[in-house]
Amino acid sequence: MLSIALPKGRIAEDTLKIFEEIFGKKFIFEDRKLILKDKDFTFLLVRNQDVPVYVLHQAADLGVVGLDVLEEKELDLVDLLDLKIGKCKVCVGMKNSDELDPDKPSIKVATKMENIARKHFSNKAVAAEIIKLYGSIELAPLVGMCDAIVDIVETGTTMKQNGLKVVETIMDSSAHLIANKNSFISKKREILSLYQEISKIVG
Ligand code: PRP
Repeated sequence: MLSIALPKGRIAEDTLKIFEEIFGKKFIFEDRKLILKDKDFTFLLVRNQDVPVYVLHQAADLGVVGLDVLEEKELDLVDLLDLKIGKCKVCVGMKNSDELDPDKPSIKVATKMENIARKHFSNKAVAAEIIKLYGSIELAPLVGMCDAIVDIVETGTTMKQNGLKVVETIMDSSAHLIANKNSFISKKREILSLYQEISKIVG
């Protein structure tokens, strides 16, 4: 029996479709239920950022989570496979009328992803004051709270509709299958067999 933490929303649906294709049966969460038990699997529905936490504490053997979240959290987990779903980019965004000014002594950056943002600007030797937010990041530069944002861009619509542009791409992201280190040892056969089946589908 393997337990798998999935991030609520489209990535969970796309992952369950992969499982349906492999096992030839439907995996459907009942309305509002957060746990789905089957003969071979238990699926848990959690917030995106919480997936690695469930896996780290071995509340789930496996998880599906964006590479951006893994990069941000830097936890001791096994990164098994790129599922090639949930593709997006982590970008630096600014107001259409603004440019990154290399001569400015320090810039203010609003983001959900503090570590990725801090590392990015530190690598460029740009002093950045990071302002941690939990959502609606695109609003921050519009009300003068920051010079730039570091955020997820998927279709680009949110930035566009708020008069923002991408000035730099920090990384490409997609959903990865991750494993708890102990589970990977104790349930190696089951995990590797699942890994092989999923690899056949996602390529
Ligand atoms: C994410 C991200 C952007 C948006 C990008 O936010 O933080 O705001 O999606 O998608 P797009 O490029 O397709 O417009 P999310 O929907 O997770 O909401 P949040 O603001 O609460 O973080």
